[in-house]
Amino acid sequence: MLNGEKLLACMETFAVGKKELQEIAAAFRYDMECALQGKEFSSLRLFPSFLPLPTGKEQGKYAALDFGGTSIKASLLELDGKGGCQVKKSCSRLLHDGEGYDYSGGETTAEELFDFLAAIIAELLEGNQQEQVLLGHTFSYAVEQKDCTDGRLLRWAKEIAVKGVEGELVNELLTKALRRAGYENVKPCVILNDTVAALLAAAYGQPETKIASIYATGFNICCFEPQPGEQPPQIINLEAGNFLKLAPNKYDNLVDEHSEQPGRQRLEKMVSGRYLGELYLEALTDILGFRPKRKISSEDLAAIIETGGQEILAAAAGQNLTAEEYDGLQKLAAAVVRRSARLVAASYAGVLWHLGGKGKVQPQNIAIDGSVYEKMPLIEVNLQMALKEILGEEAEGITLSLVKGGSAAGAAIAAAMTRAE
Ligand code: BGC
Repeated sequence: MLNGEKLLACMETFAVGKKELQEIAAAFRYDMECALQGKEFSSLRLFPSFLPLPTGKEQGKYAALDFGGTSIKASLLELDGKGGCQVKKSCSRLLHDGEGYDYSGGETTAEELFDFLAAIIAELLEGNQQEQVLLGHTFSYAVEQKDCTDGRLLRWAKEIAVKGVEGELVNELLTKALRRAGYENVKPCVILNDTVAALLAAAYGQPETKIASIYATGFNICCFEPQPGEQPPQIINLEAGNFLKLAPNKYDNLVDEHSEQPGRQRLEKMVSGRYLGELYLEALTDILGFRPKRKISSEDLAAIIETGGQEILAAAAGQNLTAEEYDGLQKLAAAVVRRSARLVAASYAGVLWHLGGKGKVQPQNIAIDGSVYEKMPLIEVNLQMALKEILGEEAEGITLSLVKGGSAAGAAIAAAMTRAE
């Protein structure tokens, strides 16, 4: 049933060689440095967080709201002032449950979305409208800020299309919703990107960490960066998913065309969990010669790589396939995932080259939070291999470490930092 030659040609379009990786890393560094100097022709636009690294001594009880993926989570946390953070309680809800409700689409208003967020916080606080609560808000989209207390949403990503939020102050919308729900006592005192939260969470216990990344539904990187003149260094959100000096194949272009924001987040659409299954589906459509009825998620992709995913593939093809065909489609899944890791490694290398300046790449720990990094097979090993191809022996000093729950911990640490200021 499958055309073997077509399958091979399709897989070939997901290959990224060593030379191309090095060129992408160099282009990423170039765009990052242009953006830092305020030059307009960079594909990256950087977003200052107005937050330095934590001292590790921040302490106290805080609330955190994590809004950025498919699940929204509110938590109560306690920081011990010695690099330790304990989650006391948390409540989470899906942004859309697949059947009943959906707070992600263009029919939802800003008020409806923020009332939904306030209701999750209300559930967390169990009706306590007396005790003063400082809340850190990890909001994982491109936000323009003048200080760390609030920021305007520049644009949605990850297929969110709620009207009336772009251009607005996000913590102000949240505060109004909390007031409508009767929670005068909750103060959203800081807003931060999830990459920034991951870096704060990692650096709280490991102060030498200067780079963090989210590799999940979305993709992004932040780093701790010296500032010109007398200004103190601060963490900068690179919005790395918007990088576009890449060579997309025809499947990437189809995924982009069908997305909410064509032309934007081109790197993210080639690497992150929100899109990997769709990319595979576009490739499968081409090979089969018709569009499968069954959608493919990134979890399906993981299953195909790990176990062969014969049920998933038979449902997509509408019939059982031969062992050879299943094998070919498993290799295709691996090729999509391998490319994701290699492109991500190239963007990490661009940041490492930037931090190394004119000298060698310095030993660094990159703190990574996210389901693709944590759970997708083949990612870790391909990240390591690609870093070695790009950086040679300088890759030896680079460690990758998993931060779990960084969005909530980072929000609490940021809330504590604003209190200390
Ligand atoms: C957003 C980033 C975020 C990343 C990971 C992207 O779509 O633009 O702000 O850090 O997803 O959640």
